[in-house]
Amino acid sequence: MPNYDTLYEALGGADGIRDLVERFYPKVQRHPLLAPLFPEDITPVMEKQYLFLTQFMGGPPLYSNEYGHPMMRARHLPFEITPERANAWLDCMALALSETDAPEPVRKLALERLSGPAHHFVNTESESSSH
Ligand code: HEM
Repeated sequence: MPNYDTLYEALGGADGIRDLVERFYPKVQRHPLLAPLFPEDITPVMEKQYLFLTQFMGGPPLYSNEYGHPMMRARHLPFEITPERANAWLDCMALALSETDAPEPVRKLALERLSGPAHHFVNTESESSSH
């Protein structure tokens, strides 16, 4: 990632993160495994994700300033997150990243950084074994 101190900058700063979030959620809302988890009005979720991804990628701590410690795994506990849903989330993110102007190595690194948390948020066994 030459010429950049943070992934935040490499992704295009505030405008880049906003663009990514705006590309990501329509895919989530169209995904059969993910859509049922989210409210119809996705705007507040998008806003929180904008704040969170900003700080997660090394930008200013916008999420913590507003909501305190992220505790993201705990915040996801009310939702049944199966391994399939974690992969679906990452697939939507990969697709959204591929539509941005970010260079391929930057997209790859951003996805790698999100992959750990996504799998860490799994709190429910696969559908197939729970039915
Ligand atoms: C593993 C698959 C994931 C699923 C199925 C999932 C699903 C959800 C759902 C259902 C919500 C709540 C929406 C609402 O407010 O009603 C949420 C909130 C959120 N998710 Fe995820 N998520 C996943 C992974 C991630 C990852 C990897 C991140 C970032 C590292 C993330 C960041 C957030 C943030 C910032 C919020 C808003 C938290 C708040 O309420 O303050 N999620 N997610």
